[in-house]
Amino acid sequence: MRHVLSILDFSRKDAEAILRRARQMKVEKHRSKLLEGRTVVLIFEKASTRTRISFEVGIRQLGGQSLLMTPAESQLGRNEPLKDTARVLSRYADALVVRTFGQNVLETLVEYGSIPVINALTDMYHPCQVMSDMLTMYERTPDFEQLKVAWIGDGNNMAHSFINAAARFPFTLALACPKGYQPDPAILAKAVEQGAKIELSDDPKKAASGAHYLNTDVWASMGQEEEQKLREAAFEGYQVDGALMALAAPDCKFLHCLPAHRGEEVSEEVFEGPASVVFDQAENRLHMQKAIMEWVFA
Ligand code: CP
Ligand code: NVA
Repeated sequence: MRHVLSILDFSRKDAEAILRRARQMKVEKHRSKLLEGRTVVLIFEKASTRTRISFEVGIRQLGGQSLLMTPAESQLGRNEPLKDTARVLSRYADALVVRTFGQNVLETLVEYGSIPVINALTDMYHPCQVMSDMLTMYERTPDFEQLKVAWIGDGNNMAHSFINAAARFPFTLALACPKGYQPDPAILAKAVEQGAKIELSDDPKKAASGAHYLNTDVWASMGQEEEQKLREAAFEGYQVDGALMALAAPDCKFLHCLPAHRGEEVSEEVFEGPASVVFDQAENRLHMQKAIMEWVFA
């Protein structure tokens, strides 16, 4: 059985095939009956616009049905053991798409459940988002070998998934994260061991220099709202603005998984400017979710 807990669950070959397939599905406005008669339960313990809706629409476009389960309206919020929930849901549904806090929640669902589990964001990873960001880059620059992708900001779930992506696709990832907000060294070490080309510093200018894509994300992720002020101070100088874009390669594109905080991690000018491809990224979530579900149910 296939699960998607992180991008490392895909082999290099599978990761490339999923990109190509998502591209093809986008071009042909793909519809199928792959999920006919199947139900996917979406467990969302955090807010979501893109991930939830693109999964729900994608499931329908593949002929299936989806159900949303939230802590507020289920026994999840009343401390029913997760291992019990895993076994119950496995008797009704055909897959789980889960947005939660700890990666261990997904691991428990895999251990006690008997249906595929797909990570729709945890504090540690956001694999479906970064696979769709790979699609956004693939559409423009299919040769990843010569590509420099910069990550400017928090060493968070998105950064970790980009690090994993660098272990599956041959681009160079240059991360600039403030001290104290750098990615998990174990995640970094594992990716490098698997061949990832990664540069880590606390210098946004160095990371941006000559980059083909500049990527950022909010400074305080979901669950870190109370650290907002502290983080605003720690991330001073990390805004992706016109000056930083000017250091990048001439046709550099700006990426952001959204939602964005204009005036914090990105300037209004860059967000709304011609280099910004953020809404193509958002669209690609739909195509990528379908390609990932096809891989899961293959
Ligand atoms: N990018 C992303 O995951 O957005 P949502 O939080 O709206 O799902
Ligand atoms: N790092 C952000 C991504 C949101 C899509 C968060 O976890 O809140």
